[in-house]
Amino acid sequence: MPAVEICPNVYWIGVNDRTTDLFEGIWPISHEGVSYNAYLIDDEKKAILDLAKAFKTDEFFEAIGEIADIGSLDYVVIHHLEPDHSGVLSTLIRIAPKITLLCSEKCKEMLASFYGITENVRAVKDGETISLGKHTLQFFMTPHVHWPETMMTYESENQILFSCDAFGGYGALRGTIFDDQCTDHSFYETEALRYYVNIVAKFSGPVLRAIEKLSGLDVRIIAPSHGLIWRKDPGRIVHLYKTWAGYAGNPGEPGITLMYASMYGNTEKMMNAVAQGISGTGAEIEIFDVARTHVSYILPSLWTKSGVVIGAPTYEGSLFPLMIDVLNMVAVKHIRKKRAAVFGSYGWSGGAQRGLEKRFESLQWELMDQFEFCGAPTAGDIRQGVEFGRKFGEIISGGSAREDA
Ligand SMILES: Cc1cc2nc3c(=O)[nH]c(=O)nc-3n(C[C@H](O)[C@H](O)[C@H](O)COP(=O)(O)O)c2cc1C
Ligand SMILES: [Fe+2]
Ligand SMILES: [Fe+2]
Repeated sequence: MPAVEICPNVYWIGVNDRTTDLFEGIWPISHEGVSYNAYLIDDEKKAILDLAKAFKTDEFFEAIGEIADIGSLDYVVIHHLEPDHSGVLSTLIRIAPKITLLCSEKCKEMLASFYGITENVRAVKDGETISLGKHTLQFFMTPHVHWPETMMTYESENQILFSCDAFGGYGALRGTIFDDQCTDHSFYETEALRYYVNIVAKFSGPVLRAIEKLSGLDVRIIAPSHGLIWRKDPGRIVHLYKTWAGYAGNPGEPGITLMYASMYGNTEKMMNAVAQGISGTGAEIEIFDVARTHVSYILPSLWTKSGVVIGAPTYEGSLFPLMIDVLNMVAVKHIRKKRAAVFGSYGWSGGAQRGLEKRFESLQWELMDQFEFCGAPTAGDIRQGVEFGRKFGEIISGGSAREDA
């Protein structure tokens, strides 16, 4: 996409990535894409804020070239060293060796270890300002949003917060870069949540601390390094991020993630009965077959909803392996304080639910109910499943906001 002037002499020079299949080598984005947003301020001193992934070097340099000569650039502000934002750096400094890199103290160390770059690096202090001429940049350290070296920049002339990963989302930009011109908000908000839970959620504490730290600034525009630029309603994305970060400390909204797996359909049959039982209680439900849905898409539901129902058969003496994978990811992402119920089919001696209490204990999940049945469910088993769903649905819809959470 061509560069876009977002304020006088402040340009978006980002690139869309529609060819990477897995973000960070793990999270699917083949259908959604992602943008690496970067910005150029064309003043007496010229600065670029954020960069792009290495394979986008040519396209990125073309975008810079629309505004300025690469050789004439004075500064690159490195908010965050993750290679989705720094990949073009090695080539950039070969072309413009005099350019000064502005970053946090921690980032300075990381520039040496990731890229062998030690020259022309200036570590800035928390709150420090640099004048470019008309535009002044102020730097704020926001460690762990997303890596320890992360910082943000506030531009006071136009009141822009360059927030890097914070307030970003998956989703390549569909022609427009601004919230007010976007006609598919639900796509970006869904993808912002998926991005939040996949990438940032574990750092919800640092996210809330950063929001608090920056709350005294007058911010008119939020310009993140992924996704839409929020100029009409920056409060919207701040509100969403605050809400999502808040779920790290509470069980979430009343609602149920029903995730299941089934080799030959026995557990699946029961899953439908359980869902039927839940449906009468008014509890919102999302259903995922864990074998067919990448965990990236399940995590947002698990993060935001207070109830979890797991349906999984016994496989070689233990829980169906793909369900174990999801629960392992749940532990990695610190998805805690849920209420859970578990069911599944077994063939002879079972074992799927063995060890689950211990797993739940470490997640601070409360096991409210569980049952198993042998082989295909009988009519009696199915009745039990409907009742199991109804009971759990009532617990969740009735009073999921646990006082002790
Ligand atoms: C590969 C495989 C491994 C299994 N391992 C066990 C086991 O160790 N213990 C057991 O009781 N049943 C075991 N079973 C039987 C299943 O748990 C049983 O067939 C169950 O009904 C499957 O439910 P589903 O139709 O929802 O997949 C195994 C089945 C398969 C196909
Ligand atoms: Fe990042
Ligand atoms: Fe990023």
